[in-house]
Amino acid sequence: MGWEITIDRVQRRRERPKDDDLRFGRVFADHMFLMDYESGRGWHDPRIVPYGPLALPPAAAVLHYAQTIFEGLKAYATEDGRVLLFRPRENARRLNASADRLCMPRVDEDVFLDAIRTLVDLERDWVPSARGTSLYIRPLYFATEEDLSLKPSARYTFAIILSPVGSYYPRGMSPTRIFVEPDDIRSAPGGVGAAKTGGNYARCLRTEARASEAGYDQVLWLDGREKRYIEEVGAMNVFFRLDDKIVTPPLTGTILPGITRDSVLRLCGKWGIEAEERKVELREIAEAAGAGRLREAFGAGTAAVIAPIGWLHCGGDEIEINEGETGDFTEEFYEALTGIQTGRVEDGFGWTEEVPGILK
Ligand code: PLP
Ligand code: COI
Repeated sequence: MGWEITIDRVQRRRERPKDDDLRFGRVFADHMFLMDYESGRGWHDPRIVPYGPLALPPAAAVLHYAQTIFEGLKAYATEDGRVLLFRPRENARRLNASADRLCMPRVDEDVFLDAIRTLVDLERDWVPSARGTSLYIRPLYFATEEDLSLKPSARYTFAIILSPVGSYYPRGMSPTRIFVEPDDIRSAPGGVGAAKTGGNYARCLRTEARASEAGYDQVLWLDGREKRYIEEVGAMNVFFRLDDKIVTPPLTGTILPGITRDSVLRLCGKWGIEAEERKVELREIAEAAGAGRLREAFGAGTAAVIAPIGWLHCGGDEIEINEGETGDFTEEFYEALTGIQTGRVEDGFGWTEEVPGILK
């Protein structure tokens, strides 16, 4: 592929909403990145164009068989006006792992990164700067071949869209209420739980809607085989603090290998906090709560950052954690991660990279 991104600029730029008004994923920056794939030809025609609808034939394979994957990462404004990306190569790697699982063509990591850097550079004005805000970057691609036979598509469209965002949960950083789902499952061994693909999210909607109606912020999923072990929350990996130790479910193919999850574990290593990646039985957590050993729980993900869990509803019982308050470890992980992401705290891991000023 000749790698030259063409740019078709909007005639008039829209104004970014005020930082205080930002929710999650409701407004989109002026431009998006697109490129196409055709088997035999590979990825081609990389371009930045005004954000807008895509024309799709009703026979496009994605609309029937859900061959689609996506990623989520963020660009952050520093106090001195630079723009930082957080571990973007990890998103490129995970995108390709999802692509392998869904029989989709890979995207070269450097192509992925170049597309993000160029688009974010063009949209610098869309990076909000108030605390807790960022520019959410959503790369995705999907099957477009017009063929209703069940097979991997021969054509794909890749897009990157940008959305200035505030807090993922409407109540901000306050502790969340989580419903432990006893019946429905999100994924099972041998399935696609570790891939970031739309079907994993669609299948959660019914359960999440029921939990939301009952006053909960998200669902905590149990393993698909025995419904005994904790897996993850709808949009986050989950961590528990038992006494002074951190435990989190292992990556065995049924949960998303979160980049925030990995960052929390690396921070534990640096700070000398004992951390275990292992099967976590729901009963163990309930018993630890009863014995006063469950000191904190939190979710970790790009959109949600670090979200304290104040209450867990399981099997008719309500477990209150840390009296419904954000705990010390949760606060420290949140401060360290957001500090590194926005350049306020020194990045001893090499996690952030500055978006270079490429365009005029
Ligand atoms: N689990 C699920 C199901 C998710 O959608 C996400 C968000 O991307 C995560 C976990 C956290 O992953 P990451 O930290 O890479 O955003
Ligand atoms: C993210 O955190 O980036 C995600 O993709 C989760 C999504 C449900 C908002």
